Amino acid sequence: MTVSNNPNLKHFLSCTDLTGHQINSLIDIAIDLKREGCNINLRNKVLGLIFNKASTRTRVSFQVAMSRLGGTTIDLNPNTTQIGRGEEIKDTARVLSRYCDVLAIRTFKQSDLEEYAKWSTKPIINALSDLEHPCQALADFMTIKEEFGSFGNVTLTFIGDGNNVANSLILCGALLGSKIRIACPKGYEPNISIINKAKELNNNSDSLLITNDVLEAVNGANVVYTDVWSSMGQEDTKILKDRVFEEYSITNKLLNFANPDAIVLHCLPAYRDKEITDEVIDCKQSRIFDQAENRMHAQQALLSYIV
Ligand code: CP
Ligand code: NVA
Repeated sequence: MTVSNNPNLKHFLSCTDLTGHQINSLIDIAIDLKREGCNINLRNKVLGLIFNKASTRTRVSFQVAMSRLGGTTIDLNPNTTQIGRGEEIKDTARVLSRYCDVLAIRTFKQSDLEEYAKWSTKPIINALSDLEHPCQALADFMTIKEEFGSFGNVTLTFIGDGNNVANSLILCGALLGSKIRIACPKGYEPNISIINKAKELNNNSDSLLITNDVLEAVNGANVVYTDVWSSMGQEDTKILKDRVFEEYSITNKLLNFANPDAIVLHCLPAYRDKEITDEVIDCKQSRIFDQAENRMHAQQALLSYIV
């Protein structure tokens, strides 16, 4: 299969920058790439990486993805560029987009990504913000397609904090027609604008459930997913959250309430024996390390679409 750039995709700041159809075809390309049945050439193209938060998977999978496609990456470390000094985004974006062909940015505020997108003449990719982690969702749904072959009959239950990862799962699930259930303690529900957007995209009454009841959420699920209780930047709330979230841990006992063919996902990095037990991460139903590998394949497909 030869893949060409999709002129309709300018930036990838949110899952909703793609249609369900586009996500489906991007995932098919990623699966093809994994089987090495795809021909994409980004020779001479340069991806700039701006990471204001730590990263192992996103950073390395983007670097390897670009290298596999024949392109290169530049690490634009905020501490050794003028970004850390506070140069305005509108200046940085206009300069960097004259050098690079695409920028992947990990930062705090979604509005900063939007500001980059406003001023950059080249595509901006959200490599995680406080609001969304759309590149993660592409790999997650790729893993689901590999396992179940389609999305329509899949119920994905996310147990934990209504955070960036949960938000992107909600939006991507709405676009692809999967049923999404979120189980979280009171006060830790996903962002209301995300919930409303998902309802706009998919108004089937059972397409999205937000509950405080873990058993209700996990009962009969095909995918059981979790993430850290305290995201990067929330370190000061960790002691409180560890207590509030105690009942929201994925254990073997809880997994027994899911469908017998259920798989377990976690975006990683994990706090073993907090949001998920050691034995569940490493159990037969876990696809966590396939999911991590799929970051690289999904991002190759994304780069081929966007660059
Ligand atoms: N899942 C994920 O984004 O991992 P990193 O923080 O290591 O990039
Ligand atoms: N919710 C986590 C995801 C890490 C990949 C965070 O933002 O820290």
